[in-house]
Amino acid sequence: MATTLIKNIKRLVGVRKENELLRGNKLAVLDSVENAFLLIEDGMISSYGEMKDMNRSLLHIPDQVDASGKFILPGWCDSHTHLVFAASREEEFIDKIKGMSYTDIAAKGGGILNSAKKLNDTSEDELFNSAWKRIQEISRLGTTAVEIKSGYGLTVEGELKMLRVIKRLKERSDLLIKATFLGAHAYPSEYKNDHKGYIDLIINEMLPVISKEKLADFIDVFCEKGFFSPEEMETIVKAGASYGLKPKLHVNQLSSIGGIESGIKLKALSMDHLETMTEGDIKKISSSDTIGTLLPSAAFFLRMDYPPARKLIESNAAIALASDYNPGSSPSGNMNFVVSLACIQMKMLPEEVVNATTINGAYAIGLEKFTGSITIGKRADLILTRQISSLAYIPYSFGTDLINKVMINGDWK
Ligand code: NIG
Ligand code: FE
Repeated sequence: MATTLIKNIKRLVGVRKENELLRGNKLAVLDSVENAFLLIEDGMISSYGEMKDMNRSLLHIPDQVDASGKFILPGWCDSHTHLVFAASREEEFIDKIKGMSYTDIAAKGGGILNSAKKLNDTSEDELFNSAWKRIQEISRLGTTAVEIKSGYGLTVEGELKMLRVIKRLKERSDLLIKATFLGAHAYPSEYKNDHKGYIDLIINEMLPVISKEKLADFIDVFCEKGFFSPEEMETIVKAGASYGLKPKLHVNQLSSIGGIESGIKLKALSMDHLETMTEGDIKKISSSDTIGTLLPSAAFFLRMDYPPARKLIESNAAIALASDYNPGSSPSGNMNFVVSLACIQMKMLPEEVVNATTINGAYAIGLEKFTGSITIGKRADLILTRQISSLAYIPYSFGTDLINKVMINGDWK
């Protein structure tokens, strides 16, 4: 049995006896143990506590790490990414610098349709290899669980190819991975004036195969002006639900068109983005069971207003934070930067941010039983920091690499 002892930990952050989705004031409650030890057996957290209470016989374990001056945190749970894609889009980045908007770029066939064209011309193996590199990259940056969406295929073959890549990533990687079907990411040009035709393709050609091959855990729709209306979203999500896929939805990124109301009706596990929220939208999501997932690096990259994190927390919403890693609006999956942005630009406290990127992120992908906190019986998915002065030092020193090493399912990476 593989056993690892981590001793003399300056602060063991995110210890939790019982799972709980944190909303409102509770988001700032982040329990920790100072001068701690942590014992890992067979990939799982088997005990922890203060050094002074540690059974001295543990000092004979051969595999020991001295974490003097260092913190241990639960690994980041990145609950919203599109990290399978064929190519970067820095030419649009330049267009944006020169003044074009995200919507202008989408209207001239750029954006999602540009990525879809490239993806359909790329083989499954090539897609797998580039996505594998991205997974390696984010795991070095502390991400130990991740959700990955399709949505750059927009054809039956393209969507299935993406989902098969995600399935292979799940099988190969020791990160916990969840797959989301996002066939409703944009209307392909040939269906621009035939929305029903494309929705029929999703319902009759894509979903049955996805279900048969068990290719997805969740279903997503980009509910936005020029993309999918709330009514169209309802039709697609209901079809997904008949195959057991729970909704996680893109809503209120660029406009407020009723997506929040529909998402609540559809019992969405999460509604993501929320850059453009009316007071009514904030009230509605806050009194629902749906998690609001904020993606500050997308707002940063698109130079948009940030989601109203403080208002959501004050209204008692349950919020999570994720990277949105994708080539168009957030070409980075670095959760450490998300952590800094959430504090700096959305005025979240470091404790709130850690909860929103760990336990609440785990809830947002249905993995709370397995990861997201330092809890006996959960997987040992951990970040060991370098020597740092305090928790606040992590978001404060933005852009600085403070990770010493990452443990995934009991193994140091
Ligand atoms: O979450 N907004 C919709 N989808 C992605 C961006 C997709 C793209 O531009 O390629 C997002 O931001
Ligand atoms: Fe997204």
